[in-house]
Amino acid sequence: MDIIEGLPQGRALDILESAPILRFNSHLVGTNNYQETANSDVVIITSGSSRKPGMTRDELLLTNMSIITEVTHNVVNYSPNCIIIMVTNPVDAMTYLAIHISQFPRNRVFGLSGVLDGARFSTFITAELKASVEDVFACVLGQHGENMVVIPRLSTVKGKPITEILSPETIDKLVERTIKGGAEITNLLKTSSALYAPSAAVAQMVEAIILDKKEALPCATYLQGEYGIKDTVISVPVKLGKNGIEQIIELELTAEEKAQLAKSAGAVRELINTMQVTRGNQ
Ligand SMILES: NC(=O)c1ccc[n+]([C@@H]2O[C@H](COP(=O)([O-])OP(=O)(O)OC[C@H]3O[C@@H](n4cnc5c(N)ncnc54)[C@H](O)[C@@H]3O)[C@@H](O)[C@H]2O)c1
Repeated sequence: MDIIEGLPQGRALDILESAPILRFNSHLVGTNNYQETANSDVVIITSGSSRKPGMTRDELLLTNMSIITEVTHNVVNYSPNCIIIMVTNPVDAMTYLAIHISQFPRNRVFGLSGVLDGARFSTFITAELKASVEDVFACVLGQHGENMVVIPRLSTVKGKPITEILSPETIDKLVERTIKGGAEITNLLKTSSALYAPSAAVAQMVEAIILDKKEALPCATYLQGEYGIKDTVISVPVKLGKNGIEQIIELELTAEEKAQLAKSAGAVRELINTMQVTRGNQ
């Protein structure tokens, strides 16, 4: 679904025509009309602007705030029982907004961030060690943005923490590249932001829900005291199943990691405050 006529229809047809080659029987339609999306089980919201080179995700806040307000109202009207996966940036603030607008419980509204950020860190660890992606686990929490919290202590290769395998300098370099992972791609592409890894990450989240996998995945989640954080959204590991978020997993963090997470939550809180002031002034 998109507001541009022809765009979603063309995209859907293009994907549908790959079905005989990839051997899937799902039917796809593109539309400019919410009616055709009625009674969806899962709605993935990607409407809105993306970053151009040099922009931060936070700079999208006010433009995307009005788009997400409108889109969420329509989604709720037509699919009152759906699970919403927010993708639009800044994703933590947009997830908060969608919870507020939809009035859905927090288990049914969450965002894409940790799965993608973790995949980026995994990619760089894998390349550095010439390892297999299957053996690498990366732990990335917090805001999807400058204040992302990468946790090397809990990131492993074949179960062994990378802090025991790589030098602190190398880890710092990989962490830095992960935090700037989205910008690196935007700077290369110039006219668009990342597409393939984000799509794969959302697909993993949707599969966990539809197949009721109870899979532990980090998602942008509304916290109500977990990790000592209240009334804000950041990425933490959750168990995803047919009810959406079925459990929030609280990792044991060191005092320093907890402080980093609190700072990250504070940065999201500032964006939420800006939205609240803007809404108040409208
Ligand atoms: N959370 C993440 O990890 C992550 C990863 C990648 C992209 N993103 C974000 O996802 C969003 C989409 O990225 P993209 O690359 O697909 O951007 P894009 O510009 O290609 O697509 C966005 C689409 O939204 C449509 N749109 C605008 N207003 C709308 C409205 N009111 N109703 C319906 N559709 C509307 C536009 O017509 C456009 O086609 C961006 O905000 C981007 O930053 C987030």
